[in-house]
Amino acid sequence: MLDSLDPAEIDADPLKVATRLRHAPESADGLDVSRSELVSAALTQARLRGRARQKFGAMAERMFFTPNGLEQATRRSVADYRARRFAAALPAVTRVGDLCCGIGADLLALAGAGLTVEGVDADPFTAAVARANIDALGLSARARVREGDATSTAPGDYDAVFCDPARRGARGRVFDPHAYSPPWTAVTLLAEGASAACIKAAPGIPHDLVPDSAGAEWISVDGDVKEAALWFGTLYDVPRRATLLRGDGREPATIVADPALGAPPVAPPGRYLYEPDGAVIRAHLVAEAAAAVGGALLDPHIAYITADQLVDTPFCRAYEVDDVLPFSLKRLRAALRGRRVGTVTIKKRGSAVDVEKLRRDLRLSGPKSAVVILTRIGDRPVCLLCSEARRPQQADRAGSAERA
Ligand SMILES: C[S@@+](CC[C@H](N)C(=O)[O-])C[C@H]1O[C@@H](n2cnc3c(N)ncnc32)[C@H](O)[C@@H]1O
Repeated sequence: MLDSLDPAEIDADPLKVATRLRHAPESADGLDVSRSELVSAALTQARLRGRARQKFGAMAERMFFTPNGLEQATRRSVADYRARRFAAALPAVTRVGDLCCGIGADLLALAGAGLTVEGVDADPFTAAVARANIDALGLSARARVREGDATSTAPGDYDAVFCDPARRGARGRVFDPHAYSPPWTAVTLLAEGASAACIKAAPGIPHDLVPDSAGAEWISVDGDVKEAALWFGTLYDVPRRATLLRGDGREPATIVADPALGAPPVAPPGRYLYEPDGAVIRAHLVAEAAAAVGGALLDPHIAYITADQLVDTPFCRAYEVDDVLPFSLKRLRAALRGRRVGTVTIKKRGSAVDVEKLRRDLRLSGPKSAVVILTRIGDRPVCLLCSEARRPQQADRAGSAERA
């Protein structure tokens, strides 16, 4: 029943789909549920699968979810990346304990990477869904799940431990790591007691909550920072890193802390403005990103880098600076109108300006587009009028197209 359902059709007309299913010849005989319970469960699963495509791609079609389980599940690209790190550092027979396994996104990735995994979850229904996912993906030779409390597990029972504590409570999202389930202190104790471990945390985890024994990695996917992963024991490699996963199939790009680098230099705006990826900023690796482009900060406290040269780097987005103005609505409007700009992308860092109000107040129309960057240099609010920087080969191609 479930495999024949199209989430888009359910969203468009749920009643029609439910009526069709209730009268379909397939039967619920042998199951301890009524026909309408079965139909309702199938509709819910089909809807969840539709939503899950964003995180799991085509694999979602074979998986089972709960609304909470899907919400908290690690997206496939991140789970696969992390599982590859586990597998690269540990022998294939390693027995990993996934101590808050949820519906099993990380567990499936770890088993898929060749490791033997035992999932543990305190919620019996969630544990059952994780089991169904193991079966659905044909991983039962390497993975199993038991219901239990992570905190009563001895980390020494496993060769390595992974723990992704729940960051949602009865009242929604939880931001304070001490209110995670299990709480932060219990989770770090588990990790420190294992010979190899990884904890997944929210990307906003304060640096002072990262134990000295852990290497912290901030991970973004196509520019969005998704999480922090803390690596312990034999999985520890560097104190801080930022890793950028790219949806276009390119290899992950990773940048690590360079203890030899001091504070980055500060300089007035040059020809290019670089905006570091959010993972680089969260990992406090802006000095490393500035060094990678031979650049300097516009302001010592703000993560905008400037340089006169265009360097092809995955760690920053580059803009070509066309003009720099002291911030004033009138001057900005005149400058944009003079350039016939009708569409602006507005970015800001270190500026209190309300971007949507500014966009309305600019009242622009025109065929061109521009990027406006609002920031401050010292205590002077400034705006930089920019365009997306074209890499040398893009510029060459555009040049030859214009010549043709
Ligand atoms: C963030 S989810 C895990 C998501 C999982 N990594 C995935 O990608 O599918 C956290 C899970 O921890 C479980 N949990 C919370 N407290 C627990 C505890 N003390 N012991 C075991 N599981 C617990 C919750 O039931 C929830 O399913």
